[in-house]
This record gives sequence, structure tokens and C-alpha cells, in this order.
Amino acid sequence: MDYYAVIGHPIGHSKSPRIHALFAEQTGQALRYEAVLAPLDGFAGTVRDLVARGYRGFNVTVPFKGEAFVLADELTDRARRAGAVNTLKVEDDGRLLGENTDGVGLVTDLTRNLGIRLRDREVLVLGAGGAVRGVLAPLLAEGPAGLHIANRTGSRAEELARDFADLGPVTGGDLDSLRGRHSHLLINGTSAGLDDEVPPLPDDLLRPGVDCYDMMYGDRPTAFLRWAVAHGAARTADGLGMLVEQAAESFALWRGIRPRTAPVIRVLRPVQP
Ligand code: ATR
Repeated sequence: MDYYAVIGHPIGHSKSPRIHALFAEQTGQALRYEAVLAPLDGFAGTVRDLVARGYRGFNVTVPFKGEAFVLADELTDRARRAGAVNTLKVEDDGRLLGENTDGVGLVTDLTRNLGIRLRDREVLVLGAGGAVRGVLAPLLAEGPAGLHIANRTGSRAEELARDFADLGPVTGGDLDSLRGRHSHLLINGTSAGLDDEVPPLPDDLLRPGVDCYDMMYGDRPTAFLRWAVAHGAARTADGLGMLVEQAAESFALWRGIRPRTAPVIRVLRPVQP
């Protein structure tokens, strides 16, 4: 039996143990996966302790993705670009490989599960924090015609755009830079939804046919998705599929086998009244 864990603070509401238990059952892999609360000043110590006890890998969530990046002995290109690690694999020699599966999870959910094409499309991303930095490289790898990052603090979006300019046609600006700008897909990567808020967006931002995706999810439609529906979005989706897809990528890195995600997404999706 191999042991894995998701480490965060807080961690009580994490869906990851359920997701990985379903993956293990489906693929017949003998593993246990649990949620571990690390003290805010004790992430590295928690990891070292679990490695010493034989754990083979970890998912890392808020607020430790930056510390996991520093702790990893080796990084994948994606993790290096993201500046954050959400998956650690304990190699046979005990070294820690740091990977970031968030962006691939988002792209897989968009393209495979939702059938949303990114190639040659105009993509708008809201927010310029760690969550957005983590997904830009995989989004740009899909070959969009343009990717514009708009953020409350415009300078952060401009800086992100500069950091990723070698990977594709990416620009950045403040929320005013959205005026008159149209896209095929609008992705919310801000944390405004934690306060049930939406960044102030132009009323005519969505032309007919625009799909809206929220990287956050909840048991009811997020504030951003309620805004999207009220402003005529073609389709809306929350980040539950992204969560399950990033988990599947982690599982594949650890176990060498990729579970099917659709049945797991179905099980986790809350029943709408
Ligand atoms: P995360 O790891 O979730 O990305 P973060 O790095 O703190 O967290 O970034 C949060 C993002 O959400 C930022 O882009 C932030 O905008 P600022 O850079 O201007 O702070 C954005 N954000 C949070 N609350 C918001 C709100 N109420 N309206 C608009 N943007 C908001």
C-alpha cells in the first residue's frame, strides 16, 4: 500500500481525498490518500516527516504552493513557469520532483470535457495572481490568436504578460483595458468569488456566443457565473472539472496510469435543485 496526501491550511473541505479514492478504485491501484493540515510555519517539516514515513507523493494547496516550489529538488518546465508547485513526487532516491498540473487541468477541462477550442481564438483572463500565473503556459501552448490578462491592479497583469511573452501573443492591462475588447472565451482567475464578488466588468463585455469559465467552484453557481448568465454568456462552467483534471494529472505522474475523469466529475457535481 502506497501513501499520498494533500497538504494545505485550511484543508478540511478539500475534495482531493474523495477524488483520489475514486481514481484508485477505478484503476485498481493500492494506495491511500489523505488530507493533512500543516501549520502555517511548518510546511517543509510536514513534508519531510511524511517522506520519512514512506509517503510517495503530495498535492499542495493554499497557501503552500510557493513553498513547495522552493522545497522541490527538481522542477518540471511547467512548474518553473508557474512559479508554484501543486504536485510533489518522491523519487526512489528520496528527491522531490515538483510539478504543476493546474494549467493542464484547466486546458483539458476546456478542450476535452467542454469542447471549447482555444486555437486561433481570443481569450480573456481576469486576475493576475498566483492562480493565473499557474495556468498561462498551458493556455498559450494551445495557440490562441490572443490572450489578454485584465486585473484590478493593471501593473500586475502587464508584468505577467511580459513574463510569458516568449510563449505567445499575451497582453495585460487594468480592468479599463476591457472596454471595447471582445473575446471568444472569458476565464475568471481572480479570488473575488471568495467574497461572493465579481470584478467590475463592462456591461457589453460578452458578445453573443462567448463562453465563460470560472476557475473557482462552489456548491452553487459562483458570483462570476451568475454575472455571466445575466450578461448573455453562451455557456458557463465552474472549476470542478479543472480540479478533477489536475488531480488526474497528479495521479498519472505518481502511478503511470491516467484515470477516467468523467465519472468522477459526475459523482462530485452537486445535484442542482
Ligand atoms: P490567487 O493565488 O488566488 O491567484 P492572489 O495571488 O492573491 O491569489 O491573487 C488574487 C487575484 O484576484 C488578483 O488578481 C486580485 O487582484 P489585485 O492584483 O488587484 O489584488 C484579484 N482580486 C481579488 N479580489 C478581487 C476583487 N474583489 N475584485 C477584483 N479583483 C480581485
